[in-house]
Amino acid sequence: MSEKPVLIAQISDLHIKPPGVLAYRRVDTASALERCVAALNAFTPKPDLVVISGDLADTPMAEEYEYLKRLLAPLTLAFVGIPGNHDSRELMRVAFPRAAYAFPAGPLNQSVEIGGLDLVLLDSSVPDRPHGELDAPTLQWLDATLASTPDQPALLFLHHPPFKTGIRHMDRQFLLNAGDLAAVVKRHPRTQLIAAGHVHRAIQTMFAGIPSTICPAPNHAVDLDLAELHEPSFKIEPPAFHLHTWFPGEGFGSVVTHHVPIGNFDGPHPFFGPDGKLL
Ligand SMILES: [Fe+2]
Repeated sequence: MSEKPVLIAQISDLHIKPPGVLAYRRVDTASALERCVAALNAFTPKPDLVVISGDLADTPMAEEYEYLKRLLAPLTLAFVGIPGNHDSRELMRVAFPRAAYAFPAGPLNQSVEIGGLDLVLLDSSVPDRPHGELDAPTLQWLDATLASTPDQPALLFLHHPPFKTGIRHMDRQFLLNAGDLAAVVKRHPRTQLIAAGHVHRAIQTMFAGIPSTICPAPNHAVDLDLAELHEPSFKIEPPAFHLHTWFPGEGFGSVVTHHVPIGNFDGPHPFFGPDGKLL
């Protein structure tokens, strides 16, 4: 087992349109992804892998995946993607034919092992529907995958959160069979984190006794409207990604998730002067 931490960058909900087209007539998602790629490339130490947790395209169309590939070409890190409700499994298979998909057709589940850490990527998309669901073959595959190396920690990634957030229009399209996922992960104590996307906001909770997160987006955020004041709306808030850091150690080690804002910010500035005293 590796002694050094494993760094998994998670980016989510890219919503790439054809070149020159804004999402919702307002959001330049391509430029947002360019800034995100620059931030990932600049991050030190270099993340071991980037997981893109769904809604890579927006419509979806083949042209959007072609543009997405061009926008991701400058990324110096390896990446894997799973579909969201805005994606097409078939178009993603064509766009990323070399990915190690677990099934020859249907859901784009994958498992990846990095330095003693297992990443299990679940396809929660339901063709042409906004909500999420894990179908029976995916749940069986998850159970078998988690049973295969019981001594290694595992992080689960999927687009649809298995829990509600209080943002009602999004909660209607969460992972509808979250109970089935809970039943599987409860059989496998090695699951250390469940990481989702879909809501374009940083959110944390516990699900089935496991720390669970939602990753912010590089572009627009779903408005934090807990009082249903508006129709479903978005806001331009500070863009960010998540950096899941696994520290090897006793048992399954530990996982820490950092929220990383995307952009140029003043600093770093030292706290202490040359005399060792606080400035
Ligand atoms: Fe989504």
